[in-house]
Amino acid sequence: MEERVRTGIPGFDEVLNGGFLPSDLVLLTGATGTGKTVFATQFLYNSVKLYNSPSVYVSFEERPEDIKRNAMRFGWDFESFERKNLISFVRYDPLHIEDIYGLIENNIHEIGAERVVIDSITGLGLNIRDPGDLRAAIFNIGRMLKRSGCTSILTSEAPSENPLILSTFGVEEHVTDDVIVLYKIPKGTGFSRALTVWKMRGSVHSEKIHPYIITKDGIVVYAHDETQLFA
Ligand SMILES: Nc1ncnc2c1ncn2[C@@H]1O[C@H](COP(=O)(O)OP(=O)(O)O)[C@@H](O)[C@H]1O
Ligand SMILES: [Mg+2]
Repeated sequence: MEERVRTGIPGFDEVLNGGFLPSDLVLLTGATGTGKTVFATQFLYNSVKLYNSPSVYVSFEERPEDIKRNAMRFGWDFESFERKNLISFVRYDPLHIEDIYGLIENNIHEIGAERVVIDSITGLGLNIRDPGDLRAAIFNIGRMLKRSGCTSILTSEAPSENPLILSTFGVEEHVTDDVIVLYKIPKGTGFSRALTVWKMRGSVHSEKIHPYIITKDGIVVYAHDETQLFA
């Protein structure tokens, strides 16, 4: 079996037919509150904890202190990893947005990162107003991440309820190898959560919509039990 980059998120690697392909650039998209940050955080925690892969978390939205504090609620202690140089948090500085590319690259090299999260690419867009510049920035960051050999997740806010519109800027899904979509679906008097692998270059993958839940230990995906979605 070819090498796969496992996420360690229960049920999800099965949906991916084993995991991501090495150095894949993954777009994780969904409306606000669907669980993108939880997913991305769990991916990086597992990277270090289970797979010995140093990681970089680039945040354009939340402060690293807040991300770490929220992660602790799931029992994910990033501070101890940080002290051992197994993870670094890069907080963007709106005054130095032009340096962001080099900043990410330096952090990757410094700790020998194998996995990267950028949360979110929509946040980057709030700082680069010109659509052409923004496309170039996303493209260049994506190319740099691939060149570095890292397997990376870029999160992106889905702009509407229309499940066919995947991204805010209309470029994110084209520069990435894989697209994972998170949904909140009305059910009874509440919502249920579900995800799908929209595309995955060079791989067979599940084409189904898979329910998932957010438990006290993080995200759990139902790889088989699709019926639970409509029960
Ligand atoms: N510690 C936790 N335990 C259980 N559920 C949580 C926890 N933290 C967040 N959530 C759930 O995740 C949702 C937010 O997910 P988040 O990843 O921040 O969304 P997004 O990044 O897509 O906007 C919350 O609305 C809540 O339902
Ligand atoms: Mg978020």
